[in-house]
Amino acid sequence: MKKIKKKICSAAALTLGAALLLAGCGSEDGGQKEIKKLKIGISVYDQYDTFVSEIVSYLQAYAKEKEKDWGISITLDVENANGSQMIQNDQMDGFIRDDMDIACINLVDRTDASTIVEKAQASNVPVIFFNRELVEEDLERWDQLYYVGADAFESGKMQGEILVEECKKNFSKIDKNGDGILQYVMLEGEAGHNDSMVRSMSVISEITDRGYLVEKLSDEIANWNRDQAANKMKQFMEKFDDEIEVVLANNDDMALGAIDALTAAGLSTKDENWPVVLGIDGTTVGLEAVEDGKMLGTVLNDAKGQARGMLELAYSIVSENSLPEEFELLDGKYIRMPYQIVTVDNLGEIQMKLMK
Ligand code: GAL
Repeated sequence: MKKIKKKICSAAALTLGAALLLAGCGSEDGGQKEIKKLKIGISVYDQYDTFVSEIVSYLQAYAKEKEKDWGISITLDVENANGSQMIQNDQMDGFIRDDMDIACINLVDRTDASTIVEKAQASNVPVIFFNRELVEEDLERWDQLYYVGADAFESGKMQGEILVEECKKNFSKIDKNGDGILQYVMLEGEAGHNDSMVRSMSVISEITDRGYLVEKLSDEIANWNRDQAANKMKQFMEKFDDEIEVVLANNDDMALGAIDALTAAGLSTKDENWPVVLGIDGTTVGLEAVEDGKMLGTVLNDAKGQARGMLELAYSIVSENSLPEEFELLDGKYIRMPYQIVTVDNLGEIQMKLMK
């Protein structure tokens, strides 16, 4: 979008005179192009992923609100790629055929964006990738490619921070065997997923940097999935029994799976053996678990902010309007919404923020 504006400005410079031109071209505000409709094709990697489906719900709600504000009709065509990059590539063809103004793609395979990029560029349909961060070189391949998400490093660090703060207050309660070391198990998202790799690493570095010793009993991939995580947790419990002091899950759904396994084994939060369980996302069900004391805390992955950022960005690209100030377009390509720690202490405030 910026490129287009720059081109218009320099062509006009030849005829209009520099002073007049600079005044006009410096302005980033004001409508640039009258549009009556905004058609967005959205493809998600898996419609049953709790966090991603929350993004889609927020998008739908925000689109309704914005139709009135912007005085246009907004169509969202939401497709499920069902875990297949080939299906998603075909969905991109469908969006182009159906004259979508822009596509929002939650890549199935974050390392395999090239087909979508090529199709998009060939038909001049801009793409906002979201949630599953593609490699930078792919995003650089065309100036009409964007990414909306968050900084995974920050979420792992915050998850670690929740544990550290709790250790400061209640270390002897968490360190059940009294050996001065935190025995933990880790439930990881998908192999090769940026959020998964970065969160697993940054949570541990935060805890150890802050002076606590840890011992990994085991880690397993559970693909962001509650049932898979419950199974893995059951196996951890069979192997390590009450040695597990901390469960670190890369997202809330897997933390909830661990809680399901603990509950199925007859444990309750009142039992000494109930470990500290930590998630990431702040989904509705995740927040409920914090409220019930089953999860010590989670990290809000701002689905609502990301959905709003995506719609605002889509509108600004298609209408050539500027983005509202609350959304910063980093390097002309990225919107990264900040994470936020959630514990019982600020739960009410977070729930309010999500409702508004
Ligand atoms: C993560 C989120 C997970 C899962 C994953 C899918 O950001 O924390 O719950 O939705 O994205 O890509």
